[in-house]
Amino acid sequence: MSTLYLKVDPRQPEPLVIAQAANILRHGGLVAFPTETVYGLGANALDAQAVAGIFRAKGRPADNPLIVHIANLEQLSLVAGELPARAKNLVNLFWPGPLTLVLPKNPQVPAEVTAGLDTVAIRMPSHPVALALIQAAGVPLAAPSANRSGAPSPTTAGHVIADLDGRIHAVVDGGPAYIGLESTVLDLAADPPLVLRPGGVTVEQLEDALQGPVAYEPALSQLEQNLIPRSPGMKYTHYAPQGEVFLVSGSPEAVREKVQRLLSQAKEHGQIAAVLSSKENLAWYQSQEPMADLLINLGPRSALDLVAQNLYGALRACDEAKAAMVLVEAFPATGLGLAVMNRLYKAASCRMIEA
Ligand code: TXA
Ligand code: MG
Repeated sequence: MSTLYLKVDPRQPEPLVIAQAANILRHGGLVAFPTETVYGLGANALDAQAVAGIFRAKGRPADNPLIVHIANLEQLSLVAGELPARAKNLVNLFWPGPLTLVLPKNPQVPAEVTAGLDTVAIRMPSHPVALALIQAAGVPLAAPSANRSGAPSPTTAGHVIADLDGRIHAVVDGGPAYIGLESTVLDLAADPPLVLRPGGVTVEQLEDALQGPVAYEPALSQLEQNLIPRSPGMKYTHYAPQGEVFLVSGSPEAVREKVQRLLSQAKEHGQIAAVLSSKENLAWYQSQEPMADLLINLGPRSALDLVAQNLYGALRACDEAKAAMVLVEAFPATGLGLAVMNRLYKAASCRMIEA
């Protein structure tokens, strides 16, 4: 199939273009579209065959369930059962936005969407293009991130095309995604509520809203080792570049010394090596020998929202440069930094080095 490319204004998407994409979705097609977090690959969530197409296009394991995207609260009752009281509060505070709630499922949601679970993950995105598209399609959209399974989530239409050109019916280009990392996935059936995936809404914001503790296991190591896969997505390796990734933590000075030593060793072995640096340490690396084949500024330690925006593009650039070794500086794991570190930890397959 050839993939139709549709460009829209991210703030005021042209109704005719949105109608064209919505029409494809209503006929069971696959359309990638921007959300405020990352690009999603959408299909009609109530059409089991259309949803099966998502798994084929991505090469996604069938036991990893999808997030259902809605544009208004009427659509919520099509896909979810009775809402717990705590959910209502969070819906009011964080929707539309980057929070996904795991809720009891409405029986009409096909088992393909939820991988047979009796719960369904739902969010209302805030991106004008996503909202307009769901509204125009008139149905909730099942939409995982629009990458090949195992690649970093796409934050631009270019990333989507690199992964899925010829495998999906259309891509709507609404410019770069705003946050750059996926939504927070929250399981409200657990007590206290459990963050299954840290993301755009922070644990701190959730605890404020719920006026109580929210559980999150930073390393998720046991979960990731298949001991208790609470969220099926957890047992799969994600976001791993082709090279070996090392995540180096410690004081900024100790980190850069350690990274530079590891870089020297890599260069002695003739390896292509990349360094993903904080803005603060960038100039220092530039003054050192040897230089990395690829030196990327992820952003300041004090502006983790910028780091989140840059992260997936940087990981993709490492693959494009065919880096055999990728040295990444750790960032503070607070606020959005928790999600940044969670993704880096996975990319590094848990290879943490304390400088
Ligand atoms: O920001 C996002 O959430 C993006 C955009 C496109 O909205 N979507 C996204 O979808 O990241 P995906 O499929 O890449 O990740 C969905 C995550 C997976 O880890 C999956 O296992 C989990 O949500 N999930 C889905 N349904 C679940 C359920 N019923 N119970 C627990 N976890 C669930
Ligand atoms: Mg994904």
